[in-house]
Parts: sequence; structure tokens; C-alpha cells
Amino acid sequence: MSSAAPVPAAVKARIDVLKREIEEHLYRYHVLDAPSISDAQYDFLFNELLELEQARPELATADSPTQRVGAAPLDQFNEVTHRVPMLSLGNAFSEEDVAAFDKRCRDTLGVDDIEYACEPKFDGLAISLTYVDGKFVRGATRGDGAVGEDVTQNLKTIRSIPLNLDNAPALLEVRGEVVMQKKDFERLNARQAANGEKTFVNPRNAAAGSLRQLDSKLTAKRPLSFFAYGVGAIEGAVEGAGGVAKAVTHSATMDALGRLRFLVARERAVVRGAVGALQYFQQIGGKRVSLPFDIDGVVYKVNGYAQQDQLGFVSRAPRFAIAHKFPAEEAITVLLGIDVQVGRTGAITPVARLQPVFVGGTTVSNATLHNEDEIRRKGLMIGDTVLVRRAGDVIPEVASVILARRTVDAREFVMPTNCPECGSAIVKLEGEAIARCSGGLFCPAQRRQAVLHFAQRRAMNIEGLGEKLADQIVEANLVRTPADLYRLGLNALAGLERMAEKSAQNLLEGIEASKQTTLARFLFALGIRHVGEATAKDLAKSFGRLDRIMDAPLETLQNVNDVGPVVAQSVRKFFDEPHNREVVEQLRACGLTWAEHEGIANHVASGPFAGKTVVLTGTLQSMSRDVAREKLEARGAKVAGSVSKKTDFVVAGAEAGSKLDKAAELAVRVLDESTFIGMLD
Ligand code: IVH
Repeated sequence: MSSAAPVPAAVKARIDVLKREIEEHLYRYHVLDAPSISDAQYDFLFNELLELEQARPELATADSPTQRVGAAPLDQFNEVTHRVPMLSLGNAFSEEDVAAFDKRCRDTLGVDDIEYACEPKFDGLAISLTYVDGKFVRGATRGDGAVGEDVTQNLKTIRSIPLNLDNAPALLEVRGEVVMQKKDFERLNARQAANGEKTFVNPRNAAAGSLRQLDSKLTAKRPLSFFAYGVGAIEGAVEGAGGVAKAVTHSATMDALGRLRFLVARERAVVRGAVGALQYFQQIGGKRVSLPFDIDGVVYKVNGYAQQDQLGFVSRAPRFAIAHKFPAEEAITVLLGIDVQVGRTGAITPVARLQPVFVGGTTVSNATLHNEDEIRRKGLMIGDTVLVRRAGDVIPEVASVILARRTVDAREFVMPTNCPECGSAIVKLEGEAIARCSGGLFCPAQRRQAVLHFAQRRAMNIEGLGEKLADQIVEANLVRTPADLYRLGLNALAGLERMAEKSAQNLLEGIEASKQTTLARFLFALGIRHVGEATAKDLAKSFGRLDRIMDAPLETLQNVNDVGPVVAQSVRKFFDEPHNREVVEQLRACGLTWAEHEGIANHVASGPFAGKTVVLTGTLQSMSRDVAREKLEARGAKVAGSVSKKTDFVVAGAEAGSKLDKAAELAVRVLDESTFIGMLD
């Protein structure tokens, strides 16, 4: 049949019926675990659909189950900026930690008793799925929480991810974890082994390896599952949609996701207080081995959204949720040797070289020993038999020595007096546990780390500058300070081993593009001790200008949110060092720029936006939303994502949507663009 001929309505109708029916069977099989037809019957339906679509390619829509077999391979994954950041969770390792978490929540909320939603903590990969008008349009990995990788094609191959939702809100982000269930993992490994292919150490690695394939046809052959554990952005609430847009508790959201046909853990519970949470932990711990998927603990979430909002966030984790991890797994092995590693700030970390041992799901051959005192405290000697511990995804450590097995060959560890990388003296200051290489940026190890830190995505975001290249340019002495990066030329780069002109060109473009940055990124990139991303943001926000930070006295620095004496001193020390000021000046001379503003320190107390909560919606003509946010924050406002009773103003640009309705409903004052600009001035 030629596809130019008009499509009989009957063919289209049949295709629609088959699509629905097949998705229904996939749901029964992969989500409910209760298939109602045999595999052969399923194949029969599937082949009928396939044949109809092959005859009429224009009818094979993106949401057809036949599209779940994978698409053409990609060259690379594109980046996706998450609408709502994907956060991480704080950890609890003991009953005391859980009790302390519960107390913090109760104290903040001023209540005696809190309701918690409890869930298994899946040991897989965090994923965000975006549905627009009920259609699955995009799926992304967590990445650094703000920006992830677009793995849509791969996710489409996962049968438990619905491609269509009935009656969904205009926009819905579903958050959850991609895992490989235990039985699927066993089967996959058996198949790999039978085909002489590599086997995977654990389900988590198998899931990660399968999802991060550029060829989605390969992913399609790997049995992955998606478990939903929450939602991100929701816009354009509708009735129906399983009630997902109306939920006022996390547990109601989970029930709604189940009604929308997502796979959700059956082992969920709503409990009261730390006592209820700990009972849940015991109960799940008892079932851990018989669960169909690997978990590394449980998660407690304050159930009510109003209470969640009140508790808010610290840095990159919510205050209203915590992961309670199962105790670490342990194994016994031999300490073969102790090497030292040099970090970005010159810190010398002794690292245990171990006889490889399988613990907590992976083979461990190195473990951190933190510092010299720690080695003495534990009484470790090289050649000792030791207990190695690994808690979830935390770096393995040497827990203790088994003295009964010590032999006469055991020898004491001696801290080297000179840096293994640059030969400079290793020094340990009075009262400090950490020994440091005194070579500073003369030390290639420190230079290499400094360059990597400077270039990383959350700092200057220099695309194309990874570990290998950092190694090469430092070794070839092309880069001694970050400013040297901006002086690299094509000739010097192209002279490096295995460096094609194209990659050199790409790197130079990446470097050029990084020149436009923000003050917060720049501050973070400098690598000042104790100044992480969150602190850099706080400093940038409250001072507004680099010069003010560089010259701020200790007391002024300490006035900043979350900046204590240690951080303040470290900032002061950094900028008191003429060499560092010189690097900053050179970077500016190389053309690095960022927006500067007045900072909030001078303004918070007055002005129409001081201390107010503002929501931005619609498109502004005179500035981007990011700029509007910066201006508001500089004037002491808090910019929120959604309208609530706590909102003071809604700034409405063109085509403002549901937030405007909400503002009207709650009688929140709405500012149009010109009023807004007037108030800014
Ligand atoms: S909630 C706001 N629930 O654990 C926090 N996370 O350390 C959002 N995870 O990357 C996470 N099971 O991928 C949540 N039931 C569960 C989870 C879960 C596993 C992972 C998640 C995240 C990590 C947080």
C-alpha cells in the first residue's frame, strides 16, 4: 500500500485501539505484576500494530509502544536544565540521628508530633520525567542537580514508564529512580556470561551502564524499571489526573502517581514521630533481602506540604526529609601499602592500598585513611589484616585492625617529608590534623586540581576541560594559574599529544564562552578554602561586588548568612595574599566579566521589596527572569516559585498563566512590568 493513499478511518481507529491495549498489557505486566494474557498473545497484538504502522509510517506516533525499541544512536547526551532542582538527602546512620532529625523538625514547626511518609530508598539512578499535556516529552538524569543529561530515548524503552497520562496537568514532572530489579539482574548477567560478554557487579551498576548508552537500542535490551518517588514542577492543575495536582501531602501524591499508572513502591507507610519511623526501618530491614529491588536504606519525608514549605532547604538538601541508611557492610582484607595523595589545597591524604575485596556490592582496592593521626589512632601497620567498611555510596574506609592476625613483617607508616608530586616540604601546622604540601601552585598535583576545580560545571563551566586535558596542560607547563587558561593559543594546544585541532578549537571556544559568568561562580571557582558553592552564592548576594568582598573586614564577612569565623578568616586570608589578588586582577584583565550590584547588606532594612516574598510569572520585556530575580534579591526580596498565602507580590509579564489566577484567588498584589520597574528604582 502506498502511504500517499488516504488512510481509511478504520485503520487509524484500529491502530489507536491496539496502542491502548498494548500499553494496558505493559502496565499489567511491568507495574501491576499481574499479566492477563500470555507472551504469545502479546506478541500477536504487537506485531499487528507494527505491520499497520510499517504500511503507514505517518501513523507511527512518538507515543506508540512500537517506539519502545530504541532510536538511532546519539553522538552525545544534550544537557537539560531542571525546572525544579533535583536535590539530595541528608543521611542518618543511627537511631540518635533520626531522633535528632525529628526534634529539629518539631522545634522548627512548633509541634509535638509529626506525620512522616516512609519509603524504601532505591539504590539506582535519580531521573526526572517531564509530561506536557499528558505526553512523555523528556527524561533526564539528575546530573549536578541543576543540569542533567537528556536520556529521553533510553527512558522510552522502559516499559513501566507510561508514554501517555490520562487527564494530566499541562505540565507534570515525575521524579523517581531507575533500577534493575534483582531477578532481571540475575537473568541479564546469566545471558551476558553465556554470550561471553562482561557481567555487572551489582544491579545499580547494571542500571547505570544501561541507561547511559548512547545507543538506545542497547538500553531497550536491558530490563530496567522506574519507581516514582515524588514530583517536581506541576502547572495548570486539572481535576482528575489521579488528583496529583491537588495533593496536600506527599503520601497523597504517591497514591495519585499510582493512579496515573506509575510504578510506586508498595512498601510505603505513613507513621507518627521518630518512634513510628524507626519501627518502619526495622520492618523494612527485616524484608530487605526478599524485596525485588536493592535498597540502601529508607527515606522519611514530613508528610504535609505546608510543613515541608515551612521547613525549607539547606544548601542542596531539604530539611524536611532524611535518608536513614542501613549499617555499612564490612569485609576483611590485607593492607598492602599506604600511599599519599595531594589534594587541591595541598592536603596530603594517606590512602590504603588493599588486597581487592568485595564489600557492599563492589570490589574495593583503595580506602581513605583521612590523615596521619587517624592511622596512629587506629594503630594501623602496613601488612595488617584490616576490617574494611562501606556505607551505601560513601567512600570505603578502614574501620579497624585485627591485631590477632598481625605478623612480624608488619611495618609502621612513615609520613613522607616531601611531596611525592613536586618534592616540596610537607608541613603540618600546630593544632591541625592535616599535613600539606607547601608547594602551592608550584605543585603540579595542586595546579591540576585547581584547574579542574576552576573549570568545573558549577564554577566557570569550561566545556571540554576534563581530567586528561588538565593533566596535559599542567604537565606541559602551559598553565600555572587559572589566568593562564585564558592565554592559551591554538598552537600550544595543538602541540599536545593526541590533541586534534578540532578539540583544541573546541576547548578554546569553551574557554572564551566561560568569560561571561556570575560573581558567585567566579568566587567559587577561585577555590578559597571553605567557600563552597552555597557560601559563594551567599557572599555574592550580600556584597554584590568583588572588590567589597576582597576588602571586607572579618566582622563584615561574618554578617553574611552561614558565614562563621572559620569561613570569614579563610576568605580574609585568601585575599590578603598578594599572589591571589594578582591572579584575580589577571583574570579580569583577560576579560572575565559578571554583573555587579549594590548587594543586599545595605538595603535589607528598607525599600519596597525588603523582606518581601515575590513570585515572577510571564515574560518581561525589559529583562530576563534571572535578571529580575537578581535585582529583587539585591533589594532584600525572596523570590519564590509558586504563589501562596506568604506571597507579597506577583510580578506579571506578558502571557502570565495560572499564577495570576492564584494571586487573584489569594488577593495577592499583582505588579505589571512598569510598576515593577518603578518600584525597583
Ligand atoms: S526523595 C528532595 N525518595 O536518594 C529529595 N529519594 O540522596 C528528593 N532516592 O538522588 C529525593 N529512593 O535518587 C527520595 N524514596 C526516595 C528515594 C530517593 C532513592 C535517591 C534519590 C536521590 C538520593 C538522595
